[in-house]
Amino acid sequence: MSGAAVCTNSGGRRFVFRAASLPDQLDLIVPELLQASYSFYIWPSAPVLAWFLWSQRNSICGKRILEIGSGTALPGILAAKCGAIVTLTDSCTLPKSLAHISHCCQVNGLTPGKDIEVVGLSWGLFLKDNFRIGPFDLIIGSDCFYDPAIFEEILVTIAYFLERDNARFLFTYQERSSDWTIEALLKKWNLKANLIDLLSIGEVHGINFAELMGDHSIHLLEIVRA
Ligand SMILES: C[S@@+](CC[C@H](N)C(=O)[O-])C[C@H]1O[C@@H](n2cnc3c(N)ncnc32)[C@H](O)[C@@H]1O
Repeated sequence: MSGAAVCTNSGGRRFVFRAASLPDQLDLIVPELLQASYSFYIWPSAPVLAWFLWSQRNSICGKRILEIGSGTALPGILAAKCGAIVTLTDSCTLPKSLAHISHCCQVNGLTPGKDIEVVGLSWGLFLKDNFRIGPFDLIIGSDCFYDPAIFEEILVTIAYFLERDNARFLFTYQERSSDWTIEALLKKWNLKANLIDLLSIGEVHGINFAELMGDHSIHLLEIVRA
């Protein structure tokens, strides 16, 4: 099954999630602002994570999920549509990005504050409001590790939620340089990572992850406490 998205007249991209053998289908529209900054695009890692969550939709239903660095929030919106209790976040210094996330939710029939939460959460910053969100069963993120300068800030935030809530962190990572590594940071923050075999999962669920990734090298990993 192809997971490709198509452009709509309104400047959004339409994603149709289907099951190989079941009548399930979910249509999502994600508005993008292509002249704007990072958080207004759908990065190639986002559909990969969204399709993985779709393959796991029965098990995420009812789970409390936090998405970090949501951007246009395709994975988190999909999770909410599949029955998860979702909090979408992006940097608290980017109010326009947070407003755009709310817009993405509304376009898909989700009202922020009612069906889904949208809040500011900056990596490595522990503001009073951040302690009020959760607890969470699962933390998700797509293409957050795009700059080594912020790797530790992400992992400090993740370590906090994993310890507080006994959760796990599932994320897609786009390989941009073979020199980049989080190994030493995982050790420092008492975390460990496992690579998830996306291609095998795709075979079982009839999802063509290789086609979704195109020319990019994208991995799905899970981080838990060591
Ligand atoms: C490469 S984009 C990925 C966006 C989206 N997850 C996707 O895959 O399409 C990185 C995202 O991280 C957010 N971000 C960058 N620095 C951040 C920080 N210090 N705290 C929280 N979010 C941050 C950006 O605003 C942006 O939405």
